[in-house]
Amino acid sequence: MAYTVIVPAAGQGKRMNAGANKQFLNIQAVPLIVRTLQIFENDEACQAMIVVANKDEIIEMKRLFTDYGLSKVTALVPGGQERQESVYAGLSEIKQTEGVVLVHDGARPFVRPEEIRRLVAEVGETQGAVLATKVKDTIKKGSREQIVTETLARDELWAVQTPQAFSYKLLKKAHDVAKKKAFTGTDDAGLVEHIGGRVRLIPGNEENIKLTTPYDIGIAEMILEKRKEDEDE
Ligand code: CTP
Ligand code: MG
Repeated sequence: MAYTVIVPAAGQGKRMNAGANKQFLNIQAVPLIVRTLQIFENDEACQAMIVVANKDEIIEMKRLFTDYGLSKVTALVPGGQERQESVYAGLSEIKQTEGVVLVHDGARPFVRPEEIRRLVAEVGETQGAVLATKVKDTIKKGSREQIVTETLARDELWAVQTPQAFSYKLLKKAHDVAKKKAFTGTDDAGLVEHIGGRVRLIPGNEENIKLTTPYDIGIAEMILEKRKEDEDE
């Protein structure tokens, strides 16, 4: 099924500690944001990519799109303070009110085409779907004093990734309500849940990491090496 993807890339990358937005970091010679966008550029079902960037990084990003032949970028817009505002800015660029919208972090360059396909296939007109993996660690809640207050039932816990997929109408409504009520969620599905939407968990792959800290660069290189070896076999 055809879809449009919104790619928020307007963060600061503070935890990466690279002295610049991590989106521009080269991962084996290719900038992180380019690696992420190439996945959608090469996915036939992707009709358009809307990229959200920092205002003062727009020219630099645009140059990358030209250099790497990313022809599906139909809009490049400035983001906001919070990721939620950045996604909203991207959403505002969509004129067509029918169809499926994906939101995918610019910092997740390892999602696989078959995972995107499974995700999109799950989205009806009134629900959402997110890629997720079952948590491996036991998760506990703690007080401010770092005393355990609860141990959560692990078989019900999922670590949620992106892409997250929704019908345009549902996602737009969720964002509009959140904005009006000043509700902040940590992901787009959270906003949809807030208005009573049903979100389906689609088992994904633990390789679909978000590059967040310097440690993740090493992991990313390892994943690329592994994929190269798999291809050579
Ligand atoms: N993002 C965005 N607008 C913001 C904040 C984040 O578009 N105001 C994007 C980031 O560029 C990233 C994705 O949302 O692709 C996920 O956010 P995160 O991993 O937290 O990236 P940063 O916010 O850049 O990193 P940090 O929190 O360490 O500063
Ligand atoms: Mg952040």
